[in-house]
Amino acid sequence: MRKKKLLIAPSILSADFSCLEKEVNSIQKAGADWVHVDVMDGHFVPNISIGSAVTASIKKRTKLPLDVHLMIDDPWFYLDDFINAGSSIITVHCEVSCLSLIKKIKAKLDKHKIMLGISFNPATPLSKIKKFLAYADLVLVMSVNPGFGGQSFMPGVLPKISRLRKIFKGIIEVDGGITDQTAPLVVANGADMLVAGSYVFKAKNRARAIERLRNAGN
Ligand code: DX5
Ligand code: ZN
Repeated sequence: MRKKKLLIAPSILSADFSCLEKEVNSIQKAGADWVHVDVMDGHFVPNISIGSAVTASIKKRTKLPLDVHLMIDDPWFYLDDFINAGSSIITVHCEVSCLSLIKKIKAKLDKHKIMLGISFNPATPLSKIKKFLAYADLVLVMSVNPGFGGQSFMPGVLPKISRLRKIFKGIIEVDGGITDQTAPLVVANGADMLVAGSYVFKAKNRARAIERLRNAGN
């Protein structure tokens, strides 16, 4: 049994965008800990999703903290917008970041008491993010290629999660293809927080889906 509560962050990428307030309220009622907001710019990933204006509107309609995942080429250019939108975690990708940028972002987020997450794609080796770990509150391990919801979990990332767990004391979040089948695998390898888009939003009973994910920690 885990001592710490396993955190569940449903991704609104799989929600009905025509009624986001209702969708966010539904996961809040169903027991979610965070709202995961997937921001895509059509450059870093081949898809465009939502930006800071929608993020700010969601913030006004929920008590849940916002976990903002920036899948964008230029996180520095848009950072203030997502700070002002009310993010509680802002995650940037290591594939578009150098150490000086990460230090600059961390300093700015610290001033606003926002956590910094660093993410890396399935094909990016752990060695690429080692130098960033001292500045990260959270590492988001992508378990699918970013860009789309509803893809299958890539089990090849499991050894990366367990190697990361040995060298990183902060929060390990895993994102992509998380279901009641894959959640126990990532938790056994050291994950603290699970993102789930289609598994939660497509479920008939969202509270049950969240509970099933949470039980992966037991
Ligand atoms: C993928 C996003 C994920 C995605 C998860 O680029 O970062 O957050 O929405 O969706 P599922 O859980 O359906 O794989
Ligand atoms: Zn995400």
